[in-house]
Amino acid sequence: MNPTRNGGLALASIAIFCAYPNFGYASARPAPLGWTVAAPGVWHASVGEAEALSLLSAAAGSPRADRLARPPDAPFPFADGEIEARRIDWKTTLRLPLAPGEDIFGLGVDFASIRRNGAILDLHVDHWNRRAPVPGRTHAPVPLYVSSRGFAVLFDSARYLRVSVGHGVRLAAPVKPPVVDRTTRTIRPSDPTQPAIPATWISQNPSDSIEVLAHAPGFDVYVFAGPSPLDAVRRYNLFVGGGALPPKWGLGFLTRLPTAASAADVFADIDAFDAHGLPLSMIGLEPGWMNHAYPCSLEWDTTRFPDPDAFLHELDRRGLRAHLWFNPYIGPAHGRLYPKMLPFAGSHLVWNGLVPDFTLPAARELLIDHLCGEVVDRHPRAVGGFKVDEVDGYDRYLWPETTVFPSGHHAEQLRQTYGLFVQRALFDAFRERDRRTMGQVRGTNAGASPYPFVIYNDNYDFTEYLTAVVNSGFVGVLWSPEVRGSDRGIDMLRRLQAVCLSPLALYNGWASRQKLWTHSEVLDGVRATLLLRQQLLPYLYTSFAQYHDEGTPVIRPLQLVGTTPTIPSSALAAGSLDATHNPYETPLALREVRDQFMVGDHLLAAPISPDATSRSVILPPGRWFDFHTGDFVGEDTTIEITPPLDRLPLFVRDGAVLPLLAEPSLRPPAPSDRPALELRHYGESAGHGLLYDDDGVSFAHERGALAWLALECAPDATGRWAGRTRRIHGERSIDYGDVRWRFMTSR
Ligand code: GAL
Repeated sequence: MNPTRNGGLALASIAIFCAYPNFGYASARPAPLGWTVAAPGVWHASVGEAEALSLLSAAAGSPRADRLARPPDAPFPFADGEIEARRIDWKTTLRLPLAPGEDIFGLGVDFASIRRNGAILDLHVDHWNRRAPVPGRTHAPVPLYVSSRGFAVLFDSARYLRVSVGHGVRLAAPVKPPVVDRTTRTIRPSDPTQPAIPATWISQNPSDSIEVLAHAPGFDVYVFAGPSPLDAVRRYNLFVGGGALPPKWGLGFLTRLPTAASAADVFADIDAFDAHGLPLSMIGLEPGWMNHAYPCSLEWDTTRFPDPDAFLHELDRRGLRAHLWFNPYIGPAHGRLYPKMLPFAGSHLVWNGLVPDFTLPAARELLIDHLCGEVVDRHPRAVGGFKVDEVDGYDRYLWPETTVFPSGHHAEQLRQTYGLFVQRALFDAFRERDRRTMGQVRGTNAGASPYPFVIYNDNYDFTEYLTAVVNSGFVGVLWSPEVRGSDRGIDMLRRLQAVCLSPLALYNGWASRQKLWTHSEVLDGVRATLLLRQQLLPYLYTSFAQYHDEGTPVIRPLQLVGTTPTIPSSALAAGSLDATHNPYETPLALREVRDQFMVGDHLLAAPISPDATSRSVILPPGRWFDFHTGDFVGEDTTIEITPPLDRLPLFVRDGAVLPLLAEPSLRPPAPSDRPALELRHYGESAGHGLLYDDDGVSFAHERGALAWLALECAPDATGRWAGRTRRIHGERSIDYGDVRWRFMTSR
């Protein structure tokens, strides 16, 4: 019997084979793997003996049951007997089918590719090592795959997982790739009277399986129904708690100061932002806010910040929030936190600091009590959040695999969940104070969707940055490129344009003498970019509310919105046999769209590299218009663009209505502000858009204090556009003043 559709309780007769220890693959006594409905359109099964500490148990989100019932009904995507699990020694394996033509996405925030077919991944929290990348080792190795057939699968294990996608042809496979003689590159038919067929010999034959290996007695598996791949991603995000809803000010600009900046340096920087007419929302303090870092004291340095209360008070007066860096390795021994944390520390040190066992609630409480006493509770409104550094890797920095932790959990389990535990603890602390936070984190994993933490890293490669932005949309995490400084103005500006279309707009000046105004020749472009980001605030906030409520990611890869690129099978062939081309190299997918993405429902972003003057843009289905001019740019086609330096390439769907700030200001709106709204319509079709609003800072929205408005326009009897707003949900008034319509496309 198959698991039934939504709502039915179901058991599948999918076989699990329990091998005797050391008994090879020909295992005995198959036992059924029981699938149960975990939520509408979500099925769960335990493979072997699942461990109590898993990624979802670490993240501890609660399924949004009401919302999960909303997507259309969809069947369990696998047939009887298609899934096989085995226990071999102390290891667990799982095989799922991969259909011909099925494309697989997700499986972590990779920096090099999007489509995962043919990949062999070691899913392992790590700093992405761009010089010697190990596929799967990344800041967010989320073990969730999204199938172009319209479902997703999560392997919920806090162990390192090896996942092979379409690799390793099985003897038992009913259909196998053709056998090609490499010398002559022909297929010889079994009937010798038939002619040999010319063929391509390839080194890596595609298989019909996705296979997982865990060094664990078992793990949990979840299947998320579609019917579309985007529906499956939505269900995953809702199941783990819904997407993050940052505070409104968290969508404004963040600038990070040099490591040893003082309070006086901070205010000089703020003055310079104001003098240059650049919007600003958050001030990032790097290690120097503390009197000891690497390991961290988590105590103010009173030479650089002689009066932390006065500092925070002044930030608040200027309408800004502090955003404080730390890594969780505690020292020195004479610090206040060290002796308290000592009983909860692992057996090995990191930078001579204690490594708290954050799987223990008491260790998390100590960290939070200390951070709140030292920082947050001095001025909860002025402390926006934290940047949680160094919870990813590299191996050579962090605790070895032999480390013993007081909870008895293994070093690898700590590594896979460390960032999750810290995010959860910080989020809960702010929540207890009824304040939202916006954070940064360098290592995370499955289940992180509800946490408003944005991943970053130390690499500075423009192409990799965009690839990671796209990949983040499949797996429920937020990722932002950074601007850190540039030797050319054009480089600074083009990077800033990409940054301003990502979840967190930031300049990370921790190790730079440069500022955003260093290259005066691009200052106008820098200002226009930051003001545009500020102007997009109501649209971005609404997109995050959709992430929160529907699970729809803010950043949507094109593969999720209808233009799954077809990858010709010829592209799967590695090269031919000649002396210059290695036939054993990994096949390349030709059309992996990894440099453009949707932001919310209506905007198509196509950032342009600092090294390019033009680029091509694939338009998703429908008619598209230029964001800046309202002009038609194309329909069902690929366009070539040469944007002026101060314009970031941005396109809008036909009939979109975008809520924007009419006049972007230099600070995020204060609670008493009522900025004017500009409702912008693009294209020739009747207009539709959404506006979400709440107080932007607290959790009152969970208590019903929110508003959803439909933004609609159509031509009136005289043929002129007429627009209206219509309340569709919630009673709260919106925090905007005048509403002005603007019709961007001339009729
Ligand atoms: C790095 C981090 C940088 C900066 C620096 C401060 O690990 O990625 O953004 O914060 O630490 O030491």
